[in-house]
Amino acid sequence: MGPSLRSVMACFPTGVTVVATRDASGAPLGLTVNSFTSVSLDPPLVLVCIAHRSASHDPIIASQSFTVSVLSAAQGDIAQRFATSPSEGRFDGVDWRGAPSGHPVIEGAAAWLDCSIDEVIVAGDHSILLGRTVACGAGDQPALVFHRGEMGSTDG
Ligand SMILES: Cc1cc2nc3c(=O)[nH]c(=O)nc-3n(C[C@H](O)[C@H](O)[C@H](O)COP(=O)(O)O)c2cc1C
Repeated sequence: MGPSLRSVMACFPTGVTVVATRDASGAPLGLTVNSFTSVSLDPPLVLVCIAHRSASHDPIIASQSFTVSVLSAAQGDIAQRFATSPSEGRFDGVDWRGAPSGHPVIEGAAAWLDCSIDEVIVAGDHSILLGRTVACGAGDQPALVFHRGEMGSTDG
């Protein structure tokens, strides 16, 4: 038996994002996600994979839309916070603004996207959410990097 898929995938460096929406009462919710990938430029499609057991899974699909905040190198604490239970109150004390959809974008993020869900594809224990980008923006901060279980920076 070789190494686990998890430990093999940990060798592939990724950026780190917070995928977020608002629930039916308007409260912001979100989670740390590194499965974010661009899919198509025309039409502008991206995807994220969300675990079925994640508390954010159903509310994100119910809202039919989500934001992606690409975390900057200085936001390792945000990545930890949005990956740790409980989910309630994750946005307390976190600076965020509303994207055009009104869903949260984390202040200081290196880039952000505002997406409507085009398709939900059930894939094993995750759902692939195919998002159509309706608005996006970028700053010039270095981005946070996740590699072999450690957080780093694109700045080295
Ligand atoms: C670097 C990193 C990347 C992650 N990427 C994903 C991901 O792509 N999809 C996912 O469902 N969970 C991912 N997680 C795990 C969730 O952030 C974590 O399970 C979170 O507590 C889920 O919150 P929720 O139950 O409130 O939705 C990641 C965690 C870390 C630390």
